Amino acid sequence: MAANAHYDLIIRNATIIDGMRAPRFHGEIGVRGDRIVSIGALATASADIEIDGTGLIAAPGFIDAHTHDDRMLLSNPDMAPKVTQGVTTVVAGNCGISLAHSPANGASTPPLDLLDGSGDWFKFPTFRAYREELAAQPAAINATCLVGHTTFRVAAMDRLDRAATPAEITRMREMAHESLASGAIGVSTGTAYPPAACAPTAEIIEICRPLSEFDGLYVTHMRNEDDQVIDSIEETCLIGRTLKVPVVISHHKTVGLKNHGRSVETLKLIAERMSAQPLGLDCYPYIASSTVLRYDRLEQSSRIIVTWSKPHPEFAGVDLYEVARRLNMTQTQAVEKIKPAGAIYFMLDETDVQRILAFEETMIGSDGLPHDTKPHPRLWGTFPRVLGHYSRELKLFPLETAVYKMTGLTAGKFGLKDRGVIKAGAYADITLFDADTVIDAADFEHSTRPARGISTVIVNGTVVWRDDQPTGARPGRILLRNS
Ligand code: ZN
Ligand code: CU
Repeated sequence: MAANAHYDLIIRNATIIDGMRAPRFHGEIGVRGDRIVSIGALATASADIEIDGTGLIAAPGFIDAHTHDDRMLLSNPDMAPKVTQGVTTVVAGNCGISLAHSPANGASTPPLDLLDGSGDWFKFPTFRAYREELAAQPAAINATCLVGHTTFRVAAMDRLDRAATPAEITRMREMAHESLASGAIGVSTGTAYPPAACAPTAEIIEICRPLSEFDGLYVTHMRNEDDQVIDSIEETCLIGRTLKVPVVISHHKTVGLKNHGRSVETLKLIAERMSAQPLGLDCYPYIASSTVLRYDRLEQSSRIIVTWSKPHPEFAGVDLYEVARRLNMTQTQAVEKIKPAGAIYFMLDETDVQRILAFEETMIGSDGLPHDTKPHPRLWGTFPRVLGHYSRELKLFPLETAVYKMTGLTAGKFGLKDRGVIKAGAYADITLFDADTVIDAADFEHSTRPARGISTVIVNGTVVWRDDQPTGARPGRILLRNS
């Protein structure tokens, strides 16, 4: 086949992992334009760009199922923390937080300040406005976007410590409708955070009604991930069933010492519900979480590291007990003193993390926070850590399964057609990596150290990373659901 054919790009002599858990096989990949056009022996074919894949795995580009990259796509379009990990698509707008429909005072309301503490980026009155800016200034990689219920609340309500009124619900439903009609793929919620904690289930259902019309996704940082985690899973599933839409449980975990081990229970329930309704979940490969600095995490955590502080930037990277010592205060007082701020919380159990990662339907999502001064290492390390640490070193699952959890599974759950798979006709989002050396290098001390072992990254047929260097190309697109 394809004798003497000419391609724009050929990857030669690679070991191909297709993203759908087929056993790896040896072969060559021919690309024309933005698509993979043939796979097999292309020895007699020629190409403008030839990439030698000897000793490397060629896999579909990784899809980061859970990100807060809404602003990074615009402010840092090289997307270095993602490209260096082999990520070619990010799902933005998670945990109830998105830039559109921008609230005027968005930056002063945690957790919206995770996207931007200055307020300058909260400037998109509609999702269409956000999408148009991103289309006019593409990033190096693709994005697919959720819009956030917390952002809507901050935009539509004068105070957040109550349920929305019928008029406010109508306004927020219109925001959801506009967003979905303009290319958002779903709505996210973050009822765990104060600005959305007073939203009852019925408010969420009423705001999310347009999801049914657009077959959008309901994605949630659940109301509770500790003592009431089971109730939260039931609430999440109920919302999905009521709206008849697929649901994704974000960064699934069981928080706090007394809930360690409960992933046995939660995964059993998730598996049961999954047999009756479309349901997905993602997970990051660390025992520490990260978000804004909050009192209520003090007791649940064995260690807390400050990641940023607006009034006290000098404490970024410092343990909270040390901050308290230096300020000659209790830790609770120190939290008040250095807010607004962010933190890393050591409050998960390694056995739970491994059990959730290994669960058949779990996707990999980084939950990285790209604007933190000293971010959680998951921002730069998640994908190589799953490949190198959890698959190769700990043998938690075969490499084919690890790749599936960051490609084919994710594309299926989010409805990203012809992505997350190496096959003729699919988009040419391809990552080449060395299975023997790929590993995360970012840790809690050196939190922005780029991963090792990612050789080449191709997005829509264009090389964005090669020989440990970005190429400067910006072929990223906005991906719609089921189209
Ligand atoms: Zn979250
Ligand atoms: Cu998140």
